[in-house]
Amino acid sequence: MAKFFVTGAAGFIGSHFTDRALAKGHQVVGFDNMSTGQKFFLKDALTNKNFKLIEGDIREIEQLQKAMSDLKPDWVIHFAANADVRRGLDRPRRDLDYNTIGTWNVVESARGVDCKNVLFSSTGSVYGEPKVFPTPENGPFPEQTSLYGASKLAGEGILSAYAHGYGMNNVVFRFVSILGPRYTHGHVFDFMKKLKADKTKLPVLGNGKQLKSYLHMNDLMKGLWLVIESKPQGFQVYNIGHDDALTVDISIGYITRELGLTPKLEYSGGERGWIGDSPRIQLDTTKLKKLGWSADKSLEQGVVDTVHYISENSFLLSEANL
Ligand SMILES: NC(=O)c1ccc[n+]([C@@H]2O[C@H](COP(=O)([O-])OP(=O)(O)OC[C@H]3O[C@@H](n4cnc5c(N)ncnc54)[C@H](O)[C@@H]3O)[C@@H](O)[C@H]2O)c1
Repeated sequence: MAKFFVTGAAGFIGSHFTDRALAKGHQVVGFDNMSTGQKFFLKDALTNKNFKLIEGDIREIEQLQKAMSDLKPDWVIHFAANADVRRGLDRPRRDLDYNTIGTWNVVESARGVDCKNVLFSSTGSVYGEPKVFPTPENGPFPEQTSLYGASKLAGEGILSAYAHGYGMNNVVFRFVSILGPRYTHGHVFDFMKKLKADKTKLPVLGNGKQLKSYLHMNDLMKGLWLVIESKPQGFQVYNIGHDDALTVDISIGYITRELGLTPKLEYSGGERGWIGDSPRIQLDTTKLKKLGWSADKSLEQGVVDTVHYISENSFLLSEANL
């Protein structure tokens, strides 16, 4: 049994990670400020004697230090973040505080309790608008197009420097957009929210031609655990995403088909949905595949599972913090 300290444990991805860790017989302490997290995502975990939830904020290093010194984790899994890519420009300091300084607080606290292993959830957004597809981990990405990507890339740098400087084994995962149960943000959520308000029309950011890879939660979990159980050494970066990609229009087709709706699509126009939106995201996952990873669920299945989950839990569409 290993001890896992999971920041953002009440969130979409963190709660799945927590459930998997407990199912494998590990001990987990979740650390979450509940800003976008949902306690009911942890309803099974909260009945498990190997799980404890601490309400705390990664911007407060003393809170992290206290929580980690009680557990003395083998692994720190860092999911807590401001995951709102789109509204970064409205609150320019937020990404820095959460994703860069918050990440430094997490890694420094791990070092303080002699935990050698930190996993960081970064993003394909760090590639900005890449020229090479599928984009490999070592592809050139000189320009950042969002504060979210920039703040995550700075977080990656901190993990890298700590691995080299303090002999830690730090892993960065660059995720594409993740789909599946407990989904609370992203294009499927946004479209379903708009359709709940008006079934007859659907405003679409951009021209609908943006081409993006996604990944089902089950396939993300498979990749994370494969790497953790491979006992990674030094600093490692892994892309994770499906080989396939969908245009926004195709995705809308799946969503509206599942909902039985035929709204009029109203495009805002342009190649990008918003400033910082990358018109194409497809990651090269050769490095992860060498460990034996592959995606099982198609992107269509991912969208369909997500639509069904949100339909069955439609109160999420009205939650004030989502
Ligand atoms: N969901 C995706 O498609 C996706 C894609 C790329 C990267 N990521 C990254 O994966 C991680 C998890 O994303 P998610 O989709 O589960 O997001 P989420 O918003 O569902 O989860 C984030 C969790 O962190 C908590 N949190 C936020 N700020 C905090 C703070 N200051 N202190 C403590 N807890 C805090 C929230 O309450 C929430 O439970 C994030 O780092 C995100 O940037 C997600």
